[in-house]
Amino acid sequence: MHHFQYSGHNLNCESVDLAAVAKLYGTPTYVYSAATMADNYTRLARGLAGLDVQLCFAMKANSNIAILRHFANLGAGFDLVSGGEIRRVLAAGSNVKTSVFAGVGKTEAEIKLALQNDIFAFHVESEPELARINHVAGTLGVRAPIAIRINPDVDAHTHAKITTGKSGNKFGIPLKHAAAAYEAASKYPHIQIKGVQMHIGSQLTSVAPFVEAVEKVAPFVAELKAQYGITYFSIGGGMGIIYKDALASGEQAWWDAQPADQRPLTPESYGAALVPLLQPLGLKILLEHGRFMVGNAGVLLSRVEHLKRGAGKNFLIVDAAMNDLVRPAMYDSYHEIVPLHRDSSRRALVADIVGPICESGDCFAKDRQLQEVGEGELVAFMSAGAYGYAMANRYNTRAMAAEVLVKGSAFELINARETFEQMIANEKIPAFLK
Ligand code: LLP
Repeated sequence: MHHFQYSGHNLNCESVDLAAVAKLYGTPTYVYSAATMADNYTRLARGLAGLDVQLCFAMKANSNIAILRHFANLGAGFDLVSGGEIRRVLAAGSNVKTSVFAGVGKTEAEIKLALQNDIFAFHVESEPELARINHVAGTLGVRAPIAIRINPDVDAHTHAKITTGKSGNKFGIPLKHAAAAYEAASKYPHIQIKGVQMHIGSQLTSVAPFVEAVEKVAPFVAELKAQYGITYFSIGGGMGIIYKDALASGEQAWWDAQPADQRPLTPESYGAALVPLLQPLGLKILLEHGRFMVGNAGVLLSRVEHLKRGAGKNFLIVDAAMNDLVRPAMYDSYHEIVPLHRDSSRRALVADIVGPICESGDCFAKDRQLQEVGEGELVAFMSAGAYGYAMANRYNTRAMAAEVLVKGSAFELINARETFEQMIANEKIPAFLK
């Protein structure tokens, strides 16, 4: 469910006409719905009712400080992965006392920053990292709270680049070595064992791998509680969202029409399957969802530059490119593309939808059917709120896009489009070339 729908002919975000946003701030522009994020947060919290849950939004999915503030206001902590992300949380006016610090290569400076700001816990990925955290905590005269990331060796059945819980991945410590890692942790003077963590992958569309992973590690988690008095179990993030029928999935009717055995994963079905497995542990449960919280809450607005009709092939060339939204080029991912002005009298068009960058990979969709649109008209890339702006870059000296947040009938710029001067501000010509 989300808050992007047509009002008459015009695509709205909540009560805001998206064409008005494009007119004011130009394109490409990311637009986010505050109500959709709040709904996602609330549904997840309700879906896990009966558990003591702490939701740590995986901010790598979308780290704009306004979005962070919104989630902090709702009661979320953060799953963060760098010193930069710690500083973003602070810049959003929040703190990291309910946040966890993940990642396979935390530097000494990052560990120090996290400790100085009372991080809830470090999610430790290896034995050398444990030694490093102990050392940094020692120099500050504190004990660092930790959980060890267990790799449960479960297949998440998702894209190879976003699978993390198989034994061949670089993440975590195999279940069979985890007891030894905890024993090692218990001997460090500046380490305080606080919990246990796992994360099996991203964009999971069925609950089965989550269930398999929880069932596999639960006995070990219970042992850790008995032996070390751990207080929490983080089951990671990974809940998938609807990409194919993105627009339609904003309506309850779409969900009702899905055959019972093919219904996509929802926070309700996720909770129903997992609560009974987790409740007997008697631990606080941490969740680290990123994509589910923001994915369907954002769209990328773009303007059509040209409709180029080729021999047997049409190309719709838009002003967004792989630098603005890299997911299709990087993971062959699907984003629904819809016109901002819907007109049923128009013919259908089948075209490759491409950006202006000089590579064939700069292609958002092949042979996609949509309503015919021409130069100057606007389209929206749906489900772009997660890993959209966050993965954008400046390839081809294209400026970072603008970002706008909508709440009801209000909307505000939360990140101005980058200027050329900002793009080259740190570059300089060395004296030996002058
Ligand atoms: N926790 C850990 C330890 C993670 O590594 C991740 C994501 C998450 C939580 C959040 O996962 P989510 O709930 O968002 O699925 N750029 C890719 C996704 C990479 C995910 C990396 N780790 C994409 O655009 O599909």
